[in-house]
Amino acid sequence: MKRIYAIGGGKGGSGKSFIAASLGILLAKQGKRVVLVDLDLGASNLHTLLGQRIPQRGLDAFIDKTTNSLEDVALSTTIPNLYLISSTKCSLEIANLFYAQKLKVINAIKNLPFAYVLLDLGPGINFNTLDFFLIATEGLFVATPEPTAIENTFVFIKSIYLRKLKLALKEANMWHICQEEVAKLSKGALKSPLDLINILVGRNLENGKVFKDLLSGLKFSLILNKFRGQVAEDLGEQLVEVCNRHLYPSFDFLGNISYDSRVYESILARNIFIRKYPYTKTVSDLQNMARRLTGEKQQPIQIKASK
Ligand SMILES: Nc1ncnc2c1ncn2[C@@H]1O[C@H](COP(=O)(O)OP(=O)(O)O)[C@@H](O)[C@H]1O
Ligand SMILES: [Mg+2]
Repeated sequence: MKRIYAIGGGKGGSGKSFIAASLGILLAKQGKRVVLVDLDLGASNLHTLLGQRIPQRGLDAFIDKTTNSLEDVALSTTIPNLYLISSTKCSLEIANLFYAQKLKVINAIKNLPFAYVLLDLGPGINFNTLDFFLIATEGLFVATPEPTAIENTFVFIKSIYLRKLKLALKEANMWHICQEEVAKLSKGALKSPLDLINILVGRNLENGKVFKDLLSGLKFSLILNKFRGQVAEDLGEQLVEVCNRHLYPSFDFLGNISYDSRVYESILARNIFIRKYPYTKTVSDLQNMARRLTGEKQQPIQIKASK
């Protein structure tokens, strides 16, 4: 079965792109056919994390109809089995896609013929980012242990639920009935999407349960990146517990990824960190994560002399 992972979270700089690129490489090393889709529209940089120059073709060719197939712009990388759909060369308008363009991209991503599709998202909670995140069969939220990042991640998670609910209510032609209640939720007057669902069920709207099932069916995991010694080892578990208590019990903690200053150095030198420093705690954390995603043993990383 095809798996689509979205890698998101409210805060910029938390390591979404680094994790997307690293997991992409590790899954490809397991022999899976993987495509990374750079959806940080207007600020794409996955190619750099893969040690590559700006790709010659990308998402723009699909959007401007130079090609009708998104697969056409999935370019091979230096890593066997790993492909990249870049949005680097897209024009200024790309960051503000028209609704129809967004739907076209979403449908095409859902139909990409790869075993693993990894979506690297931008920061913030704009509709494009939320809608791209909701393509996923499993959403991965990346936070760092700082309170600011955790706060942003909670806002992002709440926005994802809210967006999903809003789209479903619109589709069911029930949006007008609930608009007022949803507005309360967006303004913070209601604590969680669960409160809204309770209102729907309480009003005996027959679809109340349908919406409840819809939201509780979303599969989410949390990753804590840039993890350092002074942080409580079980912080991730604690955060997931809060999510499961206040939202839906569908959260999992995928693990900590250790901080290593050489990540920064590798990016500066355009090296691939996991290739250059395969025997670090950070790489072992990433390998554990890749293993958890596929349920398979990770092959040892080949040490290749990189520049
Ligand atoms: N595990 C890590 N250890 C040390 N530095 C990291 C780690 N992960 C990411 N970084 C640093 O954080 C920066 C931002 O990462 P990036 O993946 O671009 O964030 P995002 O995509 O969330 O904006 C990177 O350039 C890198 O220097
Ligand atoms: Mg990024």
